[in-house]
Amino acid sequence: MSHLIAPSVLSADFANLQRDIEMINSSAADWFHVDVMDGVFVPNISFGFPVMNAIQKYAEKPLDVHLMIVNPDQYIEGFAAAGAAVITVHYEACTHLHRTIQAIHAAGCKAGVALNPHTPVALLKDILADLDMVLIMSVNPGFGGQAFIPNSLNKISELKSMALQVNPGLLIEVDGGIGLHNAGSLLQAGANVLVAGNAVFAADSPTEMIRTLKEVEFENLSA
Ligand code: DX5
Ligand code: ZN
Repeated sequence: MSHLIAPSVLSADFANLQRDIEMINSSAADWFHVDVMDGVFVPNISFGFPVMNAIQKYAEKPLDVHLMIVNPDQYIEGFAAAGAAVITVHYEACTHLHRTIQAIHAAGCKAGVALNPHTPVALLKDILADLDMVLIMSVNPGFGGQAFIPNSLNKISELKSMALQVNPGLLIEVDGGIGLHNAGSLLQAGANVLVAGNAVFAADSPTEMIRTLKEVEFENLSA
């Protein structure tokens, strides 16, 4: 499978949200990455259901919802009803992760687990076969526009090896500090979904940047 590009709506112009969503609709992007932050799990508040509903109203591609919140179980049905195709919860926020994954599947969504930069991928060994996606955070979650943490590449490689044993179709998403300088290395390491916020929305032409990220090849190790 060719890799997927998921522009992060967090970096969109919220005063022109419809315009930016339509730009993504007409671009080479595959998904909308939707960052929900509660000000408790992460030191920032982004948005909740009213904005999610506005995104759903115009988005013509799957909504990839990244929940940076405590007690995500409480809101899974709500996000499914608000149009989520993929719901990703944080390993660090879930005491009963297996139950949470079952609830996401029961709500009709693909289930992902996100790992903060300090959380080892080995902790996913006994849940990996049940997951559709793992999200490797390559910055500390909470804000767009941060610098990529290089150790993320080692985590992606390790996760890819683990996935080949038990879940070869696993989606491996990377989120934070991604741009043309590191996209090739991330794909080479085993990632197949790239989130990009600042790289897309701060570009002279966001549409062109999305297309260029989509066309990055494994061999492009110019990073
Ligand atoms: C950070 C969010 C990211 C963020 C990425 O907590 O999860 O999705 O929007 O933004 P960039 O690509 O600017 O690092
Ligand atoms: Zn995110």
